[in-house]
Amino acid sequence: MKKVLLLAVLSVGSLFAQVKGDVEVPYIPYEIKMGKGFETVQANCLMCHSFGYIINQGPQSKLFWKKKVDKMITHFKAPIEKKDAEICTEYLFKHYGNGKLK
Ligand code: HEC
Repeated sequence: MKKVLLLAVLSVGSLFAQVKGDVEVPYIPYEIKMGKGFETVQANCLMCHSFGYIINQGPQSKLFWKKKVDKMITHFKAPIEKKDAEICTEYLFKHYGNGKLK
C-alpha cells in the first residue's frame, strides 16, 4: 500500500515538474487591414476560421478570391449572401490582391 502511495506521489511530482518554469506560447500577429467591407468579412468569414487562412494565401488575383469565397459557400456551406460575397471579394482583392483580375 505504501508503495502505491509513493508511486502516486512521485508521478504527481513529475507532473508538476513539467509545468515549472516559463512556458512561452508563440504569439503570431496577423496583420488585418481595416477598411470598406471589413465588417462583412468579419461577419461572414471569421465565424469558421481565423484571418490567418486569408493572409496565408498571399497577394492573389480577383478571380482567385472570388473562387475562394465561392468555395466556402459550395464546399463548406458558408451561409454567405450573394451581396456579401461580392463585398468580401472586393475587400480581399483590395487589401490582399496582386492587382490582377485573373
Ligand atoms: C462555414 C464555415 C466557413 C466560412 C463561413 C468560411 N470558411 Fe474559409 N474555410 C472553411 C474550411 C472548413 C476551410 C478548410 C480548412 C482546412 O483545410 O483546414 C477553409 C479554408 C479557407 C481558406 C484556405 C484555403 C483553402 O482553399 O482551403 C481560405 C483562404 C478561406 N477559407 C477564406 C474564407 C473567406 C474569405 C471566407 C469569407 C468569405 C470564408 N473562408 C468563410 C470554412 C469556412
